[in-house]
Amino acid sequence: MQVVSTIAEVRAARPAFAQLGFVPTMGFLHEGHLSLIRRAKAACGAAAVSIFVNPTQFAPHEDLARYPRNLPRDLELAEAAGADLVFTPTPEEMYPPGFSTFIDPGLAHGAENAARPGHFRGVATVVAKLFGIMQPTLAVFGQKDAEQCVVIRKLVRDLDLPVTLDIAPTAREADGLAMSSRNSYLTPDQRAAAVVLIRALRAAEAVFAGGERDPEALRRTVLDILVQEPLGEVDYVALADLNSLEPLTAPAEAALLSLAVRFGHTRLIDNAILGAI
Ligand code: PAF
Repeated sequence: MQVVSTIAEVRAARPAFAQLGFVPTMGFLHEGHLSLIRRAKAACGAAAVSIFVNPTQFAPHEDLARYPRNLPRDLELAEAAGADLVFTPTPEEMYPPGFSTFIDPGLAHGAENAARPGHFRGVATVVAKLFGIMQPTLAVFGQKDAEQCVVIRKLVRDLDLPVTLDIAPTAREADGLAMSSRNSYLTPDQRAAAVVLIRALRAAEAVFAGGERDPEALRRTVLDILVQEPLGEVDYVALADLNSLEPLTAPAEAALLSLAVRFGHTRLIDNAILGAI
């Protein structure tokens, strides 16, 4: 496994791979990331990973400075998962003095976009840059960040980027909590309480399977469960169109159900796709 930190080094390494599966990450790798790396490797025969805590997708009050980092451990895990190339740039390498071009993906209706204004501008910008640097055949993202997946799909389509996207199912802990680097912030009590997210999503899936299509009734099902957990503070519960992310106001046969809940300073997100994709 080759570990490089400059764009010039990636450019020199890239021709060795006929096809390259790419997994962009912010590090502090967990089984969810590792499953994406294995998927990229299986699809392309070679896998690249970027580890970069991207400052432009954090608002000033968010957790950029304390975002968990452990590069030596990440490199061991990436290698064991089959990564061939790891790119670990500095912020200055990615955003040198004079950097001024940003990509605004629109999709303003998204619940996560509304909760984190500017976040997806940073994500779209860094992902477009990483695609330009790594020139992957395929890029693998986790469904846990559902709105991010919609944004990246739109980015690739709108800007004709020559990469195939692969969205992998959310990797979960044994009790159903979606794997996330931010889970490491949780106290034991908060960790136990966080299982309420998947309980609420599964309840909505069951009600949907039973025929309920009214978005407000589905939202209510989720909220009624979330509010029973005193350690969690609901940020949003949203039912949206799978492509436009517009909030659903009328019954629909398919929907993105997404939620964000705070446990102390830690904000967790999760989602379920209801109905046909
Ligand atoms: O999902 C993430 O970890 C980040 O948003 C990404 C895609 C690596 C861009 O910084």
